[in-house]
Amino acid sequence: MNELTTTVLALMDHNRRETSGHRYTIPSPELYPFQWLWDSCFHAIILMRAGRTAEARSELISAFSKPLANGLIPHIVYWEDPKKFMNWGREHRGDVIDDAWGIHGTSSLTQPPLLATAALRVFETEPDEAFLKTIYPILKKHYLNLIDERRFDHREAGDALTYIVNPDESGEDNSPRFDRALGVPPIHTPDEHLDKRIELIHKNACSNFQPEICMQDHFGVADVPFNILYMEGLAALGTIAEIIGEHAAAIRFRLESEAVKTDIQGFLKHGALYKSYDFKNQEFIETKTWALFMPLYGGLVSNEEADELVNSYLLNEEFFKTPFLLPTTARSESSFDPDNGFWRGPVWMAPNWFIYKGLRRYGFDEVAEQIYRDSRALIEKSGFREQYNPFTGEGFGAEHFTWGGLVLDMD
Ligand code: GLC
Repeated sequence: MNELTTTVLALMDHNRRETSGHRYTIPSPELYPFQWLWDSCFHAIILMRAGRTAEARSELISAFSKPLANGLIPHIVYWEDPKKFMNWGREHRGDVIDDAWGIHGTSSLTQPPLLATAALRVFETEPDEAFLKTIYPILKKHYLNLIDERRFDHREAGDALTYIVNPDESGEDNSPRFDRALGVPPIHTPDEHLDKRIELIHKNACSNFQPEICMQDHFGVADVPFNILYMEGLAALGTIAEIIGEHAAAIRFRLESEAVKTDIQGFLKHGALYKSYDFKNQEFIETKTWALFMPLYGGLVSNEEADELVNSYLLNEEFFKTPFLLPTTARSESSFDPDNGFWRGPVWMAPNWFIYKGLRRYGFDEVAEQIYRDSRALIEKSGFREQYNPFTGEGFGAEHFTWGGLVLDMD
């Protein structure tokens, strides 16, 4: 085993927990002591790449074990009583957890639907049909919920797109992509932002978390990365269905994936740039963030468009080129804050991983290699942190944060 894998495994072991027979990994013991949905998808891939496929399976089984009554898989499972963690994270304000979600033990929101893709990758590394049979009915209900409840059927274009009802569902809690939809100015304090998100949770709770009302009246965004992962996840779910002999469902999910693809390209695409759509304000979101590069991951642009994305934006100092690739928000945005910005500037490892994959998909091997080298350099310089300054490499936020392990899957 090489040194990098050993270091990553030590981190994963440090963060590995077992509660009531469920084995899972927490993103950071100090700041995030529960299980998060898309983090667990990353963890499954990291564990699988480190040769721990059985643990990758338990990670996912555990993440999928507390679906909401409507079938949606929630973004946080509180395996332990949150009240025990009085210093828990930025969101520890008592009122957010427990009461506001309207339920106990989990949140009422979800996160980007990387689930089926991660499960399929784990299966492909070490086929285990029993694993797929265990998770398939739960995954199926989750994606069906997104299909049934998270879209606007009456729209003329973009019918198949899925909407998020809170910025947290994007996984990028305070990304400036959502400022106008949330009603915050480009410059504000983290507390002001959190107040708005808490207000939104309360509004959604008052509407009984009924998606159509939430999407229409409070916050509804057809987000580019979320929809690309949804498109990919539906296709993966189709493959999983096929493998376990659910042929009709396999056809259905593949068709759904195609429909999402058509609508992403038909509605969210504006030349080489894809723009998320804010339903309430009826506008496409112009803010430039790392999401501009997600269509590379999804294979949704032509070679010329890919060239434009890479040369005019990624490698351009006006936008994303920095000593350590890649800032999550473009330097040109007034919201850009490389120090205290959280998702408003600092480098995060999951975006780097998605972009790495996208660059490789289009043959930009040297740029991909640069992202890999920068990701490694950040870890070497500042350790496994939640975010990093794109100019100095200084680490911020959570320590012992797992996402850096994704470098194992940059090859
Ligand atoms: C932060 C991130 C989110 C992640 C969570 C746990 O809230 O923005 O994407 O899931 O931490 O790591």
